[in-house]
Amino acid sequence: MPSAAAAKKSSNYRDRVMTAWRLFTNYAYDFRRFRNASFIDGVRTRENRRAHIHLLAHMLEYGMSLTDPRSGFGMDKVRMLAAETAKYMADYGADETSDVGISVLAAYIAFNAGTASDASEAQGLLDDLLEAGGSRSKPVVGGSEHVTSEDITRSSGIDFLSFMNARHSVRQYEKGAAVDPAKIERAVQAAMQSPSSCNRQTCRVYAFTEPTSIAKVLSHHSGNRGFGDQLGGVFIVAVDLAHWNTIGERNQCWVDGGMFAMTLALGLHAEGLGTCMLNWSAARDQDRMLRRCVGIPDNEVVITLMGFGHMRADFRVPVSRRKPLSLVLRTEPALT
Ligand SMILES: Cc1cc2nc3c(=O)[nH]c(=O)nc-3n(C[C@H](O)[C@H](O)[C@H](O)COP(=O)(O)O)c2cc1C
Repeated sequence: MPSAAAAKKSSNYRDRVMTAWRLFTNYAYDFRRFRNASFIDGVRTRENRRAHIHLLAHMLEYGMSLTDPRSGFGMDKVRMLAAETAKYMADYGADETSDVGISVLAAYIAFNAGTASDASEAQGLLDDLLEAGGSRSKPVVGGSEHVTSEDITRSSGIDFLSFMNARHSVRQYEKGAAVDPAKIERAVQAAMQSPSSCNRQTCRVYAFTEPTSIAKVLSHHSGNRGFGDQLGGVFIVAVDLAHWNTIGERNQCWVDGGMFAMTLALGLHAEGLGTCMLNWSAARDQDRMLRRCVGIPDNEVVITLMGFGHMRADFRVPVSRRKPLSLVLRTEPALT
């Protein structure tokens, strides 16, 4: 008969193996979704094509925003962008995506006008696209634009530290107080101004403000105990994996999605609403249930949920004391 110590050891071992197996199956769940949705194996879906056009357009805009771009830079990208845009239009017709490709090509030609570089090939490619039914949106929405530091500073001159100090995760709301949809739209528009890698804009927001839908969504979430039923709305922030095209980008969704989610929370804060991030630290089975309930497609990853609503006139929040600055900011550590 095994001793109690031996039995405990063997059950510890079994638990560790089971945990490792569950971790593996969860990684496999993420692996399959990334591999199927991204275009690491080549462009397949319409969303992949949109992503590729945005990526190429961004590379040209990047060049047009440098101090001293190389004369005739980016012709390889111009050719690829024109080819991708032509193929996209042939398959799906002209829309806002082909518009981006065409506008950036037009801007590239204008940018190079009067310089030593010959833009005649680019002009020919643009003419072909216009002949094939593409259009140039007005006002032109591609290329680079002129800004001044004075204008930027004037428009962003708020005391941001006070703004941030006044933000709390709110867990007490005016139950039943409806949230104005215009506030939601403004907050989402603000979040859409978040940086995204190569301007791929992969984030999607599922917004619920009907009490029955909020309750249904939250039934898949733990972590809203004691305040979920008071919320005026809940967001699900997701990222479309169809926009990534290298193995190195396999975790990029968390960065872009996290930045977007933060700006979204700050957008609601600026609208005078309270917010609370609601973690989506969900394993495969829980994730599947939420997806099924909401109809989130396989190519999207859920980054986080977020509760929001009207704050009460006065209420309590945790102090959530921050660490000293010295623990966070490491200025000029010695380099080897
Ligand atoms: C990704 C993420 C997930 C979170 N999930 C929850 C949650 O499920 N429930 C909750 O009440 N708070 C949640 N929070 C809020 C944190 O507890 C809170 O931000 C932290 O304690 C600091 O407090 P503060 O936001 O008031 O400054 C989450 C925060 C983040 C960033």
